[in-house]
Amino acid sequence: MIIRKAEIECVAALKSQYPTTGYPEVAFAGRSNVGKSSLINTLVNRKSLARTSSKPGKTRTINFYNINDNLYLVDLPGYGYAKVSKEEKKKWGSMIEGYLNSRDELKLVILLVDIRHEPTQDDKLMLEWMRQTGKKVVVVATKSDKLSNNQIAKQVPVIKKALKLTQDETFILFSSETRRGKEELWEVIKSTCGI
Ligand code: GTP
Ligand code: MG
Repeated sequence: MIIRKAEIECVAALKSQYPTTGYPEVAFAGRSNVGKSSLINTLVNRKSLARTSSKPGKTRTINFYNINDNLYLVDLPGYGYAKVSKEEKKKWGSMIEGYLNSRDELKLVILLVDIRHEPTQDDKLMLEWMRQTGKKVVVVATKSDKLSNNQIAKQVPVIKKALKLTQDETFILFSSETRRGKEELWEVIKSTCGI
């Protein structure tokens, strides 16, 4: 994928703040700290377009990145972060739900999980819920650089089983460090969004 343009276009907490251009959108969901913002940077070959942090809870709004004036990559706040107040969690939850639930432009939802860990109850609920929206769903297992090939071979079936992944649900091994899986993910994005 040739990236001619990659810019933050819009930071939204409310629906009225979403972009109105009508470009197709790809959203990234997953637990806090799983690597959503890093994955966006990797996809567009930028170090710090999306702000990342070693501390969970960095992304707190819905951030729309304009790619080549024909696509938005949408960075969502993470879930499952214990240190966030109940009130804040509720706010993020309804922000994410409000977006995923009602956005016609949304063509593809990508769920990120950490290759090292078995998916949590939150991950399972999120995926179940994504399936019900009827949109195409892809599961990306990230931080694959942190495991050996042997360990990866053991973890993949564990993750697929926990998430009850079917044959027609795409599963991609990814790393923002080594860029593993980057082109594979772009192929899915391009074909789903028709770009
Ligand atoms: P929130 O915005 O808090 O929801 O987190 P996030 O999912 O956007 O995670 P972020 O991209 O900020 O990354 C969290 C931490 O994980 C950072 O320290 C990243 O450098 C690290 N990280 C992300 N992806 C990878 C990866 O593929 N490999 C390794 N080794 N580290 C990664
Ligand atoms: Mg983030």
